Amino acid sequence: MVADNEILRLARDIVDSKKTVALTGAGMSVESEIAPFRGPGGLWEKYNPEEYGHISTLRNEPEKAWIMLSEMEREILKAKPHKGHYALAELEQLGLLSSIITQNVDGLHRVAGNKEVIEFHGHLQSVSCMDCGHQVPSSAIPLDDIPPRCEKCKGPVKPDAVFFGEAIPYDALTRSNHESRICQLMLVIGTSANVFPAASMPEVAKGAGSKVVEINVSETAFTGRISDYILKGPAGEVLEKTLAKVKELRS
Ligand code: APR
Repeated sequence: MVADNEILRLARDIVDSKKTVALTGAGMSVESEIAPFRGPGGLWEKYNPEEYGHISTLRNEPEKAWIMLSEMEREILKAKPHKGHYALAELEQLGLLSSIITQNVDGLHRVAGNKEVIEFHGHLQSVSCMDCGHQVPSSAIPLDDIPPRCEKCKGPVKPDAVFFGEAIPYDALTRSNHESRICQLMLVIGTSANVFPAASMPEVAKGAGSKVVEINVSETAFTGRISDYILKGPAGEVLEKTLAKVKELRS
């Protein structure tokens, strides 16, 4: 459990900051019952990411790639935002959160109501044909009949997410770098800081003079090096309490 004085410290930092940006990772969605990638129960315990999540596997062995993708799609299509997602949406509405850079492909920040969301690794909510580009919502593809095929040309389809071996979309990368360079406070929530270039955003922010605060159930490679302090606890609980304290400070 996170102590009240730690929540107060973060709430003060949010109220005092002229520009706050959040970077979120899989830990943000754990309370929405989406498994993280690394650690016990993580997706990568079951599937080797470089194999199942690589773009060349999707091209050359689509059935293999879709074994993992259909599992992810099922999990994500039924997931709902939790109190932490809604707290971030309210912070944006209050003018206290400029944007979220998310590595998550579940789309839950948008569902919760955040408008300024940079989906660094794309999302799994739609798929596009690799031949003709025809796009459909993921809910429209038959996940029991893999690999799915394009309804128009029967070509192979790919979720609109970034695979291993693919570049980060230019727009997401430049916007994220910009937001990181000009923020005064960066909240790093539920990410293990393992995958670059997303993991370099806190370093960019820190290098440009921003305060960096982590919310995570465990310490990461940022802790004690990049982050000024860490609130050790589940994202939902910490963000809900922080929002309540922010509102109290402003009342
Ligand atoms: N609240 C906050 N943090 C949590 C919670 C929780 N309830 N549960 C787990 N965590 C933390 C873990 O301690 C860990 O630091 O979330 C982090 C999850 O780390 P990863 O599973 O490595 O996820 P992420 O950092 O988002 O991975 C980055 O790697 O595999 C690729 O493309 C994939 O976007 C992903 C990227």
